[in-house]
Amino acid sequence: MGTGIGFGKAILINEHFVVYGLPAIASAIGAKTTAFIERRPGSGVEINDERPETKGYKAEKAGQQKESLDLMLKFMDIDTKNNAFRVTLAGDLLAASGVGASAASCAAIARAFSGELGLKLSDDKVNEVAYEGEKGYHGTPSGIDNTAATYGGLIWYKREGSSHHMERMKLKKPVEIVMGNTGLVADTKAVVGAVKERKEKEPEKYAGIFKDAEKLVHDARKQFEGFHLEAVGYLMNENHALLQQIGVSCPELDLLVDLALNNGALGAKLTGTGRGGYMVALTPGKDLQERVAKAMEKKGFQALRTTIGV
Ligand code: MEV
Repeated sequence: MGTGIGFGKAILINEHFVVYGLPAIASAIGAKTTAFIERRPGSGVEINDERPETKGYKAEKAGQQKESLDLMLKFMDIDTKNNAFRVTLAGDLLAASGVGASAASCAAIARAFSGELGLKLSDDKVNEVAYEGEKGYHGTPSGIDNTAATYGGLIWYKREGSSHHMERMKLKKPVEIVMGNTGLVADTKAVVGAVKERKEKEPEKYAGIFKDAEKLVHDARKQFEGFHLEAVGYLMNENHALLQQIGVSCPELDLLVDLALNNGALGAKLTGTGRGGYMVALTPGKDLQERVAKAMEKKGFQALRTTIGV
């Protein structure tokens, strides 16, 4: 039986801006999706999705999941007319917006087919297949999610036309974070499309915001690599403000960000698509992580205690 994994991720700086070629920073988190392939009699591919989920996520994404799988099968040139497969998705990564659930599932599926069919896909090839799969969910993905899902670790990522540039970044040691779940399912295609429309309507305003985002990500890289976590936190807050200005936050995300900061988080921002999904709070040390997570849970939100830089 072919099996494979894909890492969940948190984008720490510059989601959305990354779609337009600005650099961004992301990290794998300590939760994963696994995929298992079984051969069946007949033809076609069936998905058995056993991942834990934010209520409504799987139903809402079912069409995009099918489209994504078809794109990956075509890209890997897998004959499903004369072969039948059952793909089971599982693991401890919640199927939810903002944690890279779709990308993690794509990387896991690519690896599982590689194992089952002896394709011997390298990590770079797995990343290419997962990028194809992400098109089913995103339309025009920057590729940051599948890259983080495939390689793990802390990464510096930049889209360069039809290609990309990825560098591994060093972090002295893993750092605790809390990811707060709004419980709302976001549609990446729609949110990315809305940013594009607003950017075209107000080019001057957006040019200014993008300039700030470009400067910020370079500062953030230095602060991450110097392990200056207070400065990283400050820049995460600034990044959240820029994301608010391009219209991708929402009241639930802002509430969770405020809650995290009021309970001592060094920084907090939305992560991923926004307009729902998750936010991320920088909470070094188990005590701070617990305090922030508990404050979210007390208000009825689900909080994921995990780490970056693993
Ligand atoms: C979604 O996780 C991240 C976005 O920047 C879209 C993308 O990079 O493709 C919003």
